[in-house]
Amino acid sequence: MPEEPQSPADPPLDDVPLDDIPMIAPGEAITTLEELRAHPSRKFRLRRGEAEIECFVASSEGEVRAWRNRCPHAGTPLDWTPNEFFEPDSGYLMCRTHGALFEADEGECVSGPCRGLALEPVPIQIGADGKIRLKG
Ligand code: FES
Repeated sequence: MPEEPQSPADPPLDDVPLDDIPMIAPGEAITTLEELRAHPSRKFRLRRGEAEIECFVASSEGEVRAWRNRCPHAGTPLDWTPNEFFEPDSGYLMCRTHGALFEADEGECVSGPCRGLALEPVPIQIGADGKIRLKG
């Protein structure tokens, strides 16, 4: 079990403007395996009814998952700087607000105020062409 994390000293709280985060429709590609090898996490948006939902895709140890970018503790986005979701030393996903750590494969919080809760998964599929698509 990891130790209780410390939040980054001065986490930048200014997000990428929403217009700069790609809006992905069901069946569209979010990114590729090759792009995730270069940078293991990437934000995107999807539409749920009238609402726009911010999400991210993350690759860890060869597994790719997508999650809603919303901490189950207080509902804030996780990324501590735009498109950066991984705690640098542990490989866990980290919430910027209070430093909760989440398993990258199951999304479960293993350390922090929302221990036992989990990130909301977003269904994706990986094609033979290496493209990671939002499931329709
Ligand atoms: S909002 Fe994420 S740990 Fe509190």
